[in-house]
Amino acid sequence: MASDNKIRIGIIGAGNIGRVHAAEFSNLADQCEITAITDAYLPLAQERAKEFGITNVAVSPEELIARSDVDAVIVGVPNQFHAPLAIQALAAGKHVLLEKPMGINSDAARQILKASQASDKVVMVGHQMRWESVPMQIKEQVERGELGKIYTAKTGWFRRKGIPGWGTWFTKMNEAGGGPLIDIGVHMLDLALYLMGNPKPVSVYGATYAEFGPKRKGIGTWGKPNWDGTYDVEDLATALIKMEDGSTLSLEVSWAVHMDTDNTPFVHLMGSEGGASYRGGNGKLLTEKFDRPIETALTKADNDEGERRRLSRHFLECIRDGKQPITSALTGYTNNLILDAIYESSRTGNEVKLNWDIK
Ligand SMILES: NC(=O)c1ccc[n+]([C@@H]2O[C@H](COP(=O)([O-])OP(=O)(O)OC[C@H]3O[C@@H](n4cnc5c(N)ncnc54)[C@H](O)[C@@H]3O)[C@@H](O)[C@H]2O)c1
Repeated sequence: MASDNKIRIGIIGAGNIGRVHAAEFSNLADQCEITAITDAYLPLAQERAKEFGITNVAVSPEELIARSDVDAVIVGVPNQFHAPLAIQALAAGKHVLLEKPMGINSDAARQILKASQASDKVVMVGHQMRWESVPMQIKEQVERGELGKIYTAKTGWFRRKGIPGWGTWFTKMNEAGGGPLIDIGVHMLDLALYLMGNPKPVSVYGATYAEFGPKRKGIGTWGKPNWDGTYDVEDLATALIKMEDGSTLSLEVSWAVHMDTDNTPFVHLMGSEGGASYRGGNGKLLTEKFDRPIETALTKADNDEGERRRLSRHFLECIRDGKQPITSALTGYTNNLILDAIYESSRTGNEVKLNWDIK
């Protein structure tokens, strides 16, 4: 920490999400300072440094991690590099804010979890949806017991025509680890499990499909295509996750589908006393009273500072107070374990029992 008690941050990855983090942490200048940035493509790091007044551009992640004026590292690079960079940063005594998915697969995530358990530093995963206003209001109701026992939940995100960056790292199995399941499905899985109260998942049945990507159909506007690249990930996934307490979660996501969809993320919690529905930033609480269905709308305040600002504050607070973040390495690992099981179930056609042994 600097002599003025500000937490000094280094950013690895100056692409889309690196820029978002640079903007958010720049807005918390009373608590932190971004002291260095790097990217595999250095001109981009230089551009971001200029944009956000960051003094140092490191020539490599190794150089950035080794800097004595960096207390915390943000990792915003393709999924295959999450584990090696996070583990390296922890070994150098740095706190880590890691983009989602925590690992490219559960093996990588397990390595991060073990490194995190062996360290006294903060490891947090960037699942900003947990800090959205409506999910926070729903979580409060769940914790107060207003929904009773949540026995089943449904989550997903159907994009009609939204394959990002065809042929770039997004659509390559060895760099991303999967398609919409690992890209947007991991956000929905994370949010739904959190809102359900983090029940322990025990088994998974899933299926994945690729009916658009390999035919160069379903392309969205996010990220430029690279037509010399490859597409070897799914474009739709569906799964049923069973919990130790008997509850279930259904997860369905697509980058591309022929379906009447409003393209918005959703979570529906179904409880014995009430339900809650989140849909693209808005929500409802549902119950029955005096034989009548009751619905209460949930919205965010006009002056809401936003989920990413709250996420950034939480990271800084956890570092300052030595607290475990709510999106910890364990919840990141849980997500990766489930995602791997969905892919395995799709390959084998069988239900997959989750192996929680982290040795
Ligand atoms: N939380 C969210 O809402 C959200 C949104 C977008 C992306 N993400 C995640 O952020 C990560 C990056 O996604 P993006 O959209 O910013 O991708 P991007 O392609 O826009 O940016 C990635 C950057 O990383 C750089 N890079 C690649 N390998 C590197 C390495 N080894 N060392 C240093 N730099 C390297 C690239 O040059 C590129 O500039 C992914 O894991 C993605 O899943 C999260």
